[in-house]
Amino acid sequence: MIDVNLSLAPKQFKLIQNLIYQHAGIALPDSKQTMVQGRLAKRLRALKLDSYDQYISHLEKDNGGQEQIEFINCLTTNKTDFFRENHHFRFLSDTLLPELKPALEGGSQKLRIWSAACSTGEEPYSIAMTLRESLRDSVDMCILASDIDTAVLERCQAGCYPADRVVDVPKYLLHRYFDKQKDHSDEANCQWRVKNSLRDMIRFRRINFQDSQWPIQTKFDVIFCRNVMIYFDTETQRKLVERFASYLQPEGHLIIGHSETLSGINNNFELVGNTVYRLKPGVNERTSSSETLTKVSSSVTAAAAVPAKTTARSTPASSNAPQVKRATTGFSPTKEPVHPIIVGEIYGSYESKWISTLLGSCVSACLYDDRMQIGGMNHFMLPLGSADSTTCASYGVHAMEMLINALMKLGADRRRLKAKLFGGGAVIRTSETRWNVGERNIDFAKKFLEAEAIPLIASHTGGTQAMHIRFHTRTHKALVRVLDDRLAADVVEVEKRQPKPQSARDDAVTLF
Ligand SMILES: C[S@@+](CC[C@H](N)C(=O)[O-])C[C@H]1O[C@@H](n2cnc3c(N)ncnc32)[C@H](O)[C@@H]1O
Repeated sequence: MIDVNLSLAPKQFKLIQNLIYQHAGIALPDSKQTMVQGRLAKRLRALKLDSYDQYISHLEKDNGGQEQIEFINCLTTNKTDFFRENHHFRFLSDTLLPELKPALEGGSQKLRIWSAACSTGEEPYSIAMTLRESLRDSVDMCILASDIDTAVLERCQAGCYPADRVVDVPKYLLHRYFDKQKDHSDEANCQWRVKNSLRDMIRFRRINFQDSQWPIQTKFDVIFCRNVMIYFDTETQRKLVERFASYLQPEGHLIIGHSETLSGINNNFELVGNTVYRLKPGVNERTSSSETLTKVSSSVTAAAAVPAKTTARSTPASSNAPQVKRATTGFSPTKEPVHPIIVGEIYGSYESKWISTLLGSCVSACLYDDRMQIGGMNHFMLPLGSADSTTCASYGVHAMEMLINALMKLGADRRRLKAKLFGGGAVIRTSETRWNVGERNIDFAKKFLEAEAIPLIASHTGGTQAMHIRFHTRTHKALVRVLDDRLAADVVEVEKRQPKPQSARDDAVTLF
């Protein structure tokens, strides 16, 4: 039986303070010791641990990163409200949007706003309603809503709030942009769900301000970062504001919380309203219009098949999971980008695109999180590698973990991951047993998935054929094309040469 009243010793609290500072930049004051003890007791119970020392060592050894996420989720403070600090929304509707309106409605400019540290979503939805009320629907406008805390981000994305959470939404906006859930007839207990038309203006991402790279390639007209910097020390605030400045359009706005200031933090900004700052003229160059922060779209164009001129070999691939669409045909061109990967590479994204690769005896696992619409693929050559090759994605043992971590970094939840598996063909015809590698790869991948409780939804593995696969990052649809002898021979040649495993590059996961 776990003692829930177990107390957190000052020494243990110090370690917790260091860990949360290291992972999230949050500087926990000593006065929070009791609060931290209460919040972490839940984790001890969930993990069936009976001391904080055990918990700390579990956290320090947390290779998969799942406990790190739970730990951060426990220690963040997520208070927020609709139209909180309403003067910011009035600034948008009465000052900024009227200035931008001609260019926006004329189509020569698009509007990009980031709700950085959005918590459960009241802030980005308040921004979205303000934009909808001020601008024509035809304006190209998009909001990025991000938070480090995956639990609040899920609630943000779900966009469903009990009656007492929507009291600050003016009635006419509530009826225009929310649907009352029918299963709750009682007015006081009913739930209000944000309409899809409003939610579709928003993209939801897990972003930790402490990460060395943010999955963003656009510049924003406005960044809201309210009531977060109070949890950071001055140095962390300084670095964060400097980074925000580089993600703003020239003379873009940074809006912060009522008890925060940029005074003494960054002098590239000027105060133009109540806690509303603007980049001083000349600070950022104008950016190219090719930068992307595309709208969330539920519809995806899938690659269609075209007739093949090829001869398929006869041995069928084995599968005990449902078969993926097996096309002995070519892939037609697609409007969406196709990102090819080769052996030793990993690629994951929440952008709507295809990942493709050519497989002989190598195996590719495609992992995905339906709810977050995130997917990725690896491509490995052998199940296991030597102990000193921990960063090498050519070995299944690392490639699987690295793909999982990459997807989690993008916001996927490890517990929701599902898999599709491809390759592992006996394409190299030789009597040498070492070439039985395809089967070993498949066996390894299946065992790994089983051990990690990741359901295998579909597969096309084994056989004697090389294949070309495509996997869609958002729909998670997979297409398989069996290669003709000539192309297969090229794949076999590459595998025979067994190039030295390449290290996965730091930027192997391209985001946004
Ligand atoms: C008090 S809420 C603010 C919500 C909203 N901006 C508002 O003002 O109503 C602070 C949010 O900051 C997030 N946060 C804390 N540290 C963060 C970090 N390092 N990176 C990103 N978000 C972080 C927390 O998860 C929490 O949801």
